[in-house]
Amino acid sequence: MKSVLVAPSLLASDFSRLADEVRSAEAAGADWLHLDVMDGHFVDNISFGPAFVQAAHAAATVPIDVHLMISRPDHYLTRFTSIAANITVHVEAEHDVRKTLAAIRGAGCTAGLALSPPTNIEAVHSYLTQIDLLLVMTVNPGYGGQSFIPEMLAKVEQLATWRAELGLDFHIEVDGGINASTSMVCRQAGANVLVAGSSVFGSMDRAAAVAELRKPI
Ligand code: DX5
Ligand code: ZN
Repeated sequence: MKSVLVAPSLLASDFSRLADEVRSAEAAGADWLHLDVMDGHFVDNISFGPAFVQAAHAAATVPIDVHLMISRPDHYLTRFTSIAANITVHVEAEHDVRKTLAAIRGAGCTAGLALSPPTNIEAVHSYLTQIDLLLVMTVNPGYGGQSFIPEMLAKVEQLATWRAELGLDFHIEVDGGINASTSMVCRQAGANVLVAGSSVFGSMDRAAAVAELRKPI
């Protein structure tokens, strides 16, 4: 059983107080910090780029988990490899997935692959031996504060089955609308890395919010 890891998403933080928000999330029990890079092309929204991730990395003591929601992750990869522990790219983006995953690992980072809600789980099957993490988007990428899409649980279950059948050990991460109740069903389905933006940064008691996400199932 893989340990549960909580990765607060800084997209939901107060950008004007980034260093304080990083320290606050770590004090609340964050295992990783999740940073959503968006280019306004792969997704409608534009969030932040390497300079912001660098600032978070400078303030952080926990690993940085970068989620690239950009069309050309291969082109921008080297701007993140020295400031991220994990880099996740989308299977739907415009790149050679196998090559990008190899380049991420070659740079010393762990390699993550993400799929959006409309994408069939079969789209990632052939890459499972090249990844350290599979990110199941439980909302449509682009914005925090959306509602969890329960139909995505079947993808988590299928991934856990494939992982066992293939004798692999990649993390299964869920991302979008994760709170105390959706975390429970995601973990029951097989997820172990929980990205949470609004349910942590929007809480009056962030430590309690993080603890809720890890509550034993
Ligand atoms: C959405 C991002 C998510 C988002 C999560 O495109 O990938 O990481 O920030 O935010 P919440 O937890 O508020 O849904
Ligand atoms: Zn994300």
